[in-house]
Amino acid sequence: MINKFIYTTVSFWTPGKYVSEVFKREEALTFEYVPEKFVHREGQLREISDSVRPIFTGRRPFNCLCIGPTSTGKTGGVKFLFKRIAEEEVGEVKTAYVNCFFHPSPSQLLSEVVRSITGRRPPKASREKYLSAIGEWAKDIGVILALDEIDALLRTKNGEEILYNFLRFNEFEEEAKIGIICIMNEATAPKDLDPRLRSYMGREIYFPPYELEEITEILRNRAREAFLPGKIEDEAIRLASHYSYNENRDVRVGLEILRRAGIIAENRGKERVGTREIKEAFKEAKYISMKILLHSLDEEERTLLRKIAESEEGISTPELYELFSEEVSRTPQHFRKLLQRLEWYRLVELRPLPGSTRAREVYLRFPKEKVREYLDML
Ligand SMILES: Nc1ncnc2c1ncn2[C@@H]1O[C@H](COP(=O)(O)OP(=O)(O)OP(=O)(O)O)[C@@H](O)[C@H]1O
Ligand SMILES: [Mg+2]
Repeated sequence: MINKFIYTTVSFWTPGKYVSEVFKREEALTFEYVPEKFVHREGQLREISDSVRPIFTGRRPFNCLCIGPTSTGKTGGVKFLFKRIAEEEVGEVKTAYVNCFFHPSPSQLLSEVVRSITGRRPPKASREKYLSAIGEWAKDIGVILALDEIDALLRTKNGEEILYNFLRFNEFEEEAKIGIICIMNEATAPKDLDPRLRSYMGREIYFPPYELEEITEILRNRAREAFLPGKIEDEAIRLASHYSYNENRDVRVGLEILRRAGIIAENRGKERVGTREIKEAFKEAKYISMKILLHSLDEEERTLLRKIAESEEGISTPELYELFSEEVSRTPQHFRKLLQRLEWYRLVELRPLPGSTRAREVYLRFPKEKVREYLDML
């Protein structure tokens, strides 16, 4: 027994080229991967194309807004379209994708937009300089710019002004051809969005949640790209789709289940992935959306979330503020902002506290132990 253990351990660590017995292309199950097919979003992709199409004949394109709940193919769909534009070489046009969440200040965002258009990180410059650099590209060859998670931009100081700059680029820069595709999750969309700003975003393209059969077909296509032929049973894909559908219709959950199930089958030397592996993979995969969210929190948000995960359910906001203040000294306004952020991310739910007009009860949307476990891993 011991010999066997040592033997397998040694062979496990023996360096060499890894050849999977299960996967053809495991990467096809990651969230950033742009798949070969993007089914059930044909209408939305056609609408986006219609908005930007004039640019390919040297005219000014229109802006548009892709909006809908989580995991409905907004980011993936736009990336898929950009890949098609690059492959089909439809004309000399630059496509650039920037996620505002990761570049929260206006100058960071502008610098990232320039980098993604030119392929090189620009030296530090004023906002005007960045904007005029973008304008030059827009005049020369035309730019289609996707701004993802614009709600993150709108929550920052001067964010709205920067967005105006982009959306009205064509008006101020003669001969500029720039089409802005805004992407926003409807759950985190600001409730008080300025109607003027909204009208500059142009046509609204809605991405509804997927039906069960649609999720199944999406997962089948992704599995076809990811697994070696015959290495996953169709019943297993159907079960993964059910789980995915029941977990908020989140395609990411399904993709994560398939990848984890493939790894389980491989580690155990299984012939193919069946429902057993799927069931086991689901135990962890169901927390994937929470895990992604925790990664994007800053230090103070994580501290506050930890305090919530350590206290009893339904803790009142004044009590929570006291606990939080033991560790971080912040004003009540700042504390409220942090808490609101956790609510935006749908990590916590705030309910009215009986008998109080301002105070709230705070509830975690995920099991406490899981939140603590994942926070510890960060
Ligand atoms: N029709 C589809 N075909 C293939 N893969 C899809 C499809 N729809 C979504 N996906 C995949 O599901 C995952 C989640 O989709 P996506 O990232 O586009 O969601 P989203 O609408 O941008 O959600 P969020 O608002 O949370 O960012 C991605 O890996 C994406 O490639
Ligand atoms: Mg997205």
